Amino acid sequence: MTRYYVSGPSITQKEIDYVTDAVSCCWYEKANVYHERFEKAFAAYTGRKFAMALPSCTSGIHLALCALGVGPGDEVIVPEITWIASAAPASYVGAETVFADIDEKTWCISAESFSQCISNRTKAVIPVDIYGNMPEMDRLREIARKHHIAVIEDAAQAIGAEYQDQRAGSFGDVSVFSFHGSKTLTTGEGGMLLTDDAGLFARIQILRDHGRLPGDRMFFNSEVAYKYKMSSMQAALGLAQLERVEELVRHKRQIFAWYEAHLQDVPDITLNFEAPKTKNTYWMVTVILGPSYGITKEQLMELLSESNIDSRPFFHPLSSIPAYSSSKQAKLARERNKVSYRLSPRGINLPSGFYLTEDMVAFICKALSSTLAGARA
Ligand SMILES: Cc1ncc(COP(=O)(O)O)c(C=O)c1O
Repeated sequence: MTRYYVSGPSITQKEIDYVTDAVSCCWYEKANVYHERFEKAFAAYTGRKFAMALPSCTSGIHLALCALGVGPGDEVIVPEITWIASAAPASYVGAETVFADIDEKTWCISAESFSQCISNRTKAVIPVDIYGNMPEMDRLREIARKHHIAVIEDAAQAIGAEYQDQRAGSFGDVSVFSFHGSKTLTTGEGGMLLTDDAGLFARIQILRDHGRLPGDRMFFNSEVAYKYKMSSMQAALGLAQLERVEELVRHKRQIFAWYEAHLQDVPDITLNFEAPKTKNTYWMVTVILGPSYGITKEQLMELLSESNIDSRPFFHPLSSIPAYSSSKQAKLARERNKVSYRLSPRGINLPSGFYLTEDMVAFICKALSSTLAGARA
C-alpha cells in the first residue's frame, strides 16, 4: 500500500458468498429474501420494531421528515458539525434549517444549544451520533418531548455505539444509518430506517414506493412519492457485514486504541472522547489541535499528504459553507455557535480504515507528531 486512505471496508469470503448467492439466485419470487433477513436482523440488533433497507441514509431522513409532516413554515434543528446529508432533507421538504452548537467534548449537538434554538415553529431535531460517538440522548429526548418535537436520530456513522447500555439507532422516533463505502458496516451505498411507530412505518412504506399501497399488484399509485429501494445484492452484503458487526466494531475500537497509545506523548492535542456509560465506535479517529499550534487543518492535511497520509477536515460548521451561509439562520448561528467555530478549524480525521495494522498506525503517528513538533507556535 502506497497511500494511507481515510477509510476502507472489511470484506471477507462471507460477504462474497452472500452477494454471489444474491446475484445468482435472488430474482422473481426470491427477490426480497436478503432484504427480509437484513431488516429483521437489523431491527433485532438495534432493538426496534420496524426496519427498512434503503438506498441511502439521506433518503431515510427525507422519508422521516415527509412522514412526520414537516414542511414549509416549519423549522428543523440540526447540529452545526455534521455532513450536509443530515440537514439537506429539511430543504427538500421546504422547511427551514436551524443550526445548533455542539458539545465541547462529544462534538455532538449540545442540549443547551438545542434548547436555545427551539421556537414555536420547531417540528423536528436531528441529533447526529458524530464520528461514532453519542450525544446526551436522555437530555435531548426530554427537551424534545416537552416541546412536542420529533427526534430523528442520525446514526449514519455510529453502528455499534451505545449510550447508557442502549444501542445507537434506538433513540429516535425514527433512526437512520448509512452504509456508504466509508462506513463501519457497508453495502457500498445504502441505508436503514428504524422506528417503533407502526403508523409512521406504514406511511413510509407508501412514500418510498412511488405511492403504492401495501400489496398493490395493479401498479395503481395513490399519490406522487419517491423510489427509495436497496438492491438484493446490497442487502446480502449488509447481512454478511451485520453478522460480523461485533468483530467490525472491535476492530474500530482497536484502531483508536493504537492511535491513543502512539500519540500519548504529543502535547496539546485532543482525540475522540468517550463519556462514562457510552461506547464510542470511533468511525473516524479525529485529532483537534490546541492553541499552541500555529497551523490550520488545511495546512496539516497538506503536510500529511506529503507523507502519503490521507486525512479529512473536521466538518466545517454548516452555517459557514456556501450551501447555507447566506440564510438568516446561518447568520444567527455564526454568532451563537462558539464551540463549533473554535474546534472546526483545528481538527482533522486520520486514516481509520479496516486495512490498518498497528505498524501502519505507528507510522502515521510518527509522521503526525514530527509534523506537529515543527508547528508549535
Ligand atoms: C452524519 C451523516 N448523516 C448522513 C449521511 C448520509 O448518508 P448516505 O450517504 O448514505 O446518504 C452521512 C454520510 O456520510 C453522514 O455521515
